[in-house]
Amino acid sequence: MPASNVTVVSHPLVQHKLTLMRDVGTPSNKFRALLREISLLLTYEICRDLETELVEITTPLETFMAPRLEGKKLCFISILRAGNGLVDGMLDLVPSARVGHVGLYRDPRTLKPVEYYLKLPDRIEERLCICVDPMLATGNSAVAAVQRIKEAGAKRIKFVCLLAAPVGIETFSAAHPDVPILTAAIDRELNDHAYIVPGLGDAGDRIYGTK
Ligand code: URA
Repeated sequence: MPASNVTVVSHPLVQHKLTLMRDVGTPSNKFRALLREISLLLTYEICRDLETELVEITTPLETFMAPRLEGKKLCFISILRAGNGLVDGMLDLVPSARVGHVGLYRDPRTLKPVEYYLKLPDRIEERLCICVDPMLATGNSAVAAVQRIKEAGAKRIKFVCLLAAPVGIETFSAAHPDVPILTAAIDRELNDHAYIVPGLGDAGDRIYGTK
């Protein structure tokens, strides 16, 4: 049973595309295209509660008050490197969004995430920040990335992934109960190498064709 701050997007199109992505026979070019399509659909869902304001416009027929998005431009934040694959599709849907990047690696000695790159847009405290990583596995990188984004001033943050493991959701929600999670699926568990199973493998490798 997902925690109350987790939304699973069960839309048949999302599930169909995810099934194709999971298949080991799906090549990188197809995987990237599917990721782009699915991220557009996830973005549609995560933006469902954006505030709008009424502005006066004139159509060819008359003047009237029409809704448009309120507030500062959205901010998408990619957790490198696999997050970049999700951001491409998000920008297709919201081309004016700002994009930030957070790079973390796992210290082999302490096993803790260490930041090696951080670049965020200005006035982040006024923007809705949507932080993305295809895989919420242990949750450790996502926890550290969101912590860093909060330290930079972000007040409203959401987290989008493609697949989540139950333990990742638990760890993330315990650290950031104020940050809702949106995912296409919650898989069974992590294996001994911290891969999500059944999963889809290493998201970065599948996007970029590396091993
Ligand atoms: N990162 C991935 O790319 N895949 C997993 O299964 C877990 C973490």
